Amino acid sequence: MVKKDVLQVAILGAGTVGTGVYKVIDHLQDEMEHKIGCGLIISKILVRDASKKRDGIDESLLTDQWNEIIGNPDIDIVVELMGGIEPAKSYIMEALKTGKSVVTANKDLMAEHGKELLDLAEEHGCDLMFEASVAGGIPILRPLKHCLAGNHMSEVIGIVNGTTNFILSKMTEEGCGFEETLKLAQDLGYAESDPTADVEGLDAARKMAIMASIAFHSRVTFNDVYTEGITKITERDIAYAKEMDRVIKLLGVTKNTKDGIEIKVHPMLIDKNHPLASVNDTFNAVFVRGDAVGDVMFYGRGAGELPTASAVVGDILETARHIKNGCTGETGCTCYKHIPIKPISECKSKYFVRLQVEDRAGTLASISSVFGNNHVSIERIAQKQSKNGNAEIVVITHKVKEKDITNSLTILSTMPLVKSVDSVIRVY
Ligand code: NAP
Ligand code: HSE
Repeated sequence: MVKKDVLQVAILGAGTVGTGVYKVIDHLQDEMEHKIGCGLIISKILVRDASKKRDGIDESLLTDQWNEIIGNPDIDIVVELMGGIEPAKSYIMEALKTGKSVVTANKDLMAEHGKELLDLAEEHGCDLMFEASVAGGIPILRPLKHCLAGNHMSEVIGIVNGTTNFILSKMTEEGCGFEETLKLAQDLGYAESDPTADVEGLDAARKMAIMASIAFHSRVTFNDVYTEGITKITERDIAYAKEMDRVIKLLGVTKNTKDGIEIKVHPMLIDKNHPLASVNDTFNAVFVRGDAVGDVMFYGRGAGELPTASAVVGDILETARHIKNGCTGETGCTCYKHIPIKPISECKSKYFVRLQVEDRAGTLASISSVFGNNHVSIERIAQKQSKNGNAEIVVITHKVKEKDITNSLTILSTMPLVKSVDSVIRVY
């Protein structure tokens, strides 16, 4: 037991999440003793510009000097909410080395340097918690590590990016295009002015790498994730999805197979009755499958000031209880296996392919034979529209290997009768 009446927290960053954490901790002051067995106060907040006025935050706590935090032995917990790799990584490492436990929401950092940081935390007997780094307010990492520890997990599927889910939901509801809907998302403050990390699937890939590492007990990093974003999805694809009783979602999919870990982020057509199909707007959801529990789905707000603060404060309070009870550093890295990553070329999926072709006798036969010669079995093929001698063909394949569909499309795109390959979307 640590004999302290009050634990001290330093927050690095007073942006969206930092401000939320400040508010939530402030709101809990009367209950802190009951929750953790002692008081807990924020004693410093690190920002770049300490002279900037920040609504609702006690100015006397602000500093732009890291030394005031790392050099203060009374600070027990460092909460990193600055984002990015540096200086966040160095600050976290310094904090752990001086025996301060750390809470972070930083997916960029945990998806690339998680092992190094968790090993350092273990070495110094500290906690390093990062619940908010995946799916904001949704509890998913601690449930995977603790509540579901009795399972062998086989699959995690997630809608883990609110911006892209909002864009695809709006495109589906209103029938409008990607660029127009991205602009709306930016005007509403959902999408960043530089939306690349969201719309190209990079943000989701980081979250999937973190979840896969925990679910399958084997280290998966951001670079292991095959990633495609939503920028090529068109109104026509959405309309065809509707016609097939499906919706298009940006899904993170990871599976533990006998040939290794499959891990991908890409748009996918899913049946409108699948539980993930009704996760709309900026909401996130994670669907997991374990051998004992079966299917479980987690749903909620994946971002935003208070939802994300909810997860961060949950970690702070858990760390505080550990400090009080003298048991920090007991759940470090849980990656005790070394499972290879399955190459994307070997992963299997059903595909939706949309092509513009010459509208003449033999076209369908020629296309079918290219697919057939490349081991791609067709479930459905239909001619949709015909105009000025060209036709739109829609093909749904059976489950086939990525390399076989890629080879087929490479050949098709060189054939004079194929005018363009407009869409290739996987089907769940
Ligand atoms: P943000 O609004 O951009 O705030 C960043 C804060 O960090 C600012 O207060 C900034 O100071 C401070 N900061 C940045 N670099 C610094 C440096 N070198 N030294 C000192 N202070 C520095 O970011 P956010 O949206 O709160 O996100 C914070 C973290 O939470 C990120 O890792 C993000 O991925 C993660 N996250 C965010 C959300 C969300 O909904 N926003 C959800 C889940 C996870 P100034 O104010 O002086 O510029
Ligand atoms: N940009 C993310 C999203 C939130 O749109 O879900 C932070 O992880």
